Amino acid sequence: MERTFLMVKPDGVQRNLIGKIVTRFEEKGFQLVGAKFIHVSENIAEQHYAEHKEKPFFTELVDFITSGPVFAMVWQGEGVIAKSRLMMGKTDPLEALPGTIRGDFGVVKHKNIIHGSDGRESAQREISLFFREEEIVEYNKLLDSWIY
Ligand code: TYD
Ligand code: MG
Repeated sequence: MERTFLMVKPDGVQRNLIGKIVTRFEEKGFQLVGAKFIHVSENIAEQHYAEHKEKPFFTELVDFITSGPVFAMVWQGEGVIAKSRLMMGKTDPLEALPGTIRGDFGVVKHKNIIHGSDGRESAQREISLFFREEEIVEYNKLLDSWIY
C-alpha cells in the first residue's frame, strides 16, 4: 500500500492544530502507521530539505523547522501521496484554497503548517530519514473493508 510522510510543522504544533490535522486524514480514510513528536536536528533538517539547498530561503527554512517540536507521521492508503498534497493545499497559504489545511489555517508561505512528500521517491526518502523500519506499525483495520 502507498505511503507518505506528513509533518505538522512547528507553527502547527504551537497553534494546537495537531488534532485537527490528524482528524482530516483519519476522516478521509487514510491509515496512520507511524507517528512521533520530535525536535528536528539541524542535520536532519538539512537532509530533509536538501533539494532547496541553493534557494534563498534555505537557511530560514532550516531555522524554522528546527525552532520547535514537530509531529512527524507516516500515512498509508491508495493515492495517499497525491491526495494528501491536495488536502494540504498550495505552498503559499494565500493561494491555497479554502478547505485545504494551508488554505484554512495558514497565512504566510514560510509558516505553512504542514509538510507532505511530493512524490513516490521523496516519500520513501523522507519516511526512512525520520522513521526506522520497526517504527512503522503494520496492522489491519476492520474499517478497511468499508473503504476498499
Ligand atoms: P516547497 O517544497 O517548494 O513547498 P511544499 O512544502 O509545498 O512542498 O518548499 C518547501 C518549504 O519551503 C515550503 O513549505 C515553505 C518554504 N518556502 C519558503 O519559505 N519560501 C518560498 O518561496 C518557497 C517556495 C518555499
Ligand atoms: Mg516540497
